Amino acid sequence: MATPRGEFKSRLGFLFAAAGSAVGLGNIWGFPTQAASNGGAAFLITYLAMAFVLAYPVLMAELLIGRHTHQNMVTALSSLPRRAFWRRIGALTGIGGLITASLILSFYGIVSGWMLGFAASYPLDAAGLSGQAQWLTGFGISRNLLLMLVFMALTMAVVLGGVEEGIERWSRRLMPLLIVTLISLALYVLTLEGAVTGLKVYLLPDFGKILSSELLLDALGSAFFSLSLGVGTMLIYGSYLSDKVHVPSIGAQVALLDVGIAVLAGFLILPAMYVADARGVAIFNEAGGLLSEDTLIFSVLPGLFETMDTAGVLLATAFFLLMSIAALTSSISMLEVPVAYLIEQHRMARGTATLLAGGTIATFSSLIVLNFDTLFGAVITLSTRYSQPLLGLLVCLYAGWLWQRDALLAELKKTDALAEHRLFWRVWPLYVKWLCPVIIGIILAQSVL
Ligand code: PHE
Repeated sequence: MATPRGEFKSRLGFLFAAAGSAVGLGNIWGFPTQAASNGGAAFLITYLAMAFVLAYPVLMAELLIGRHTHQNMVTALSSLPRRAFWRRIGALTGIGGLITASLILSFYGIVSGWMLGFAASYPLDAAGLSGQAQWLTGFGISRNLLLMLVFMALTMAVVLGGVEEGIERWSRRLMPLLIVTLISLALYVLTLEGAVTGLKVYLLPDFGKILSSELLLDALGSAFFSLSLGVGTMLIYGSYLSDKVHVPSIGAQVALLDVGIAVLAGFLILPAMYVADARGVAIFNEAGGLLSEDTLIFSVLPGLFETMDTAGVLLATAFFLLMSIAALTSSISMLEVPVAYLIEQHRMARGTATLLAGGTIATFSSLIVLNFDTLFGAVITLSTRYSQPLLGLLVCLYAGWLWQRDALLAELKKTDALAEHRLFWRVWPLYVKWLCPVIIGIILAQSVL
């Protein structure tokens, strides 16, 4: 008996959910801080190039495979090729995606917990509960554990509701709130003294840094992470997309929203750093470089908020809530990957699948908390720097080489009778077949060798 599958109720619901998955800590925190330390606009340009030249085609591959098969990544990739060998490799790739999505969630949950902690600490402090507020923001095992568990519980609660009542409903509520908060915060910060210096750093490129292979890999990794690629998230969201929606155009909108919000976040974070500088908060290390990414968010910005009295409390709460919302709309998409697999492949009820997958990930997360110094950085590097681009490469190979051309065309023709005359059909199939795997391969090989 086939399990009844969820489906996004509206085009807009899908757009918010997919953009919600894409827009996360990667955009609002990762991208601006990386841009700040890597030549400002030079990084911005590299990132934009990576996003449109490499990440968008891979996004399309995931969305189209998902929509075509209406299956999770494991079943989807194993159903595309004709030969048994490639079917098996497809299933393995899907499992790799599922494991990587879970690994990402296991560190993402910890960092998102910190965001919740910071968001709660400002109102608590203002209400006179400064001991509690300090506990929430100070690094410690019990605090890291508790906040991670709270965040994981929120994630599981949304995923438990299913595609329409959980993921779509919450994305539709949270995404507009996120965009409004981000724009308001940026506009406010831009009026403060020092902001213009930040703008200059952001917008005037330092091309000395642009072509190092390290930077290319960083920008590629960021673009893949930011668009949630390689791990089956976009594939599973695509699989919940109605056959009436034109995938190439909605994919482009998701990519534009994602990149747009990252760029917008740059207009908040970089000026805020230099406003902090103007107010005497240290933003450079002894070597004259910028402080590392985590210090920027968890000490420079709080330092800045402290110089602002009541406005600071409001601003800080809004900022960390913004981060928490961005994180939640992403974490639900990560959890949906193993959950959908368990439901479809192992015929579990959604409740059981959510508890099992969420519980396992939270347990692994706890292990990371307990062995923070050894595991935290290692899990991030493994999952985002290597695993994600590698899986993205494999997805391209499946879309480009192992998916029959007529089946692909039939998929595109569902919403466009003239699909074979479009630019997309002329360019994209060749592009994912040759260009994407080669470029991703070169960048990956360079970083390994
Ligand atoms: N795109 C999310 C972000 O930018 C992270 C993410 C990665 C989400 C992989 C889902 C899958 O923060």
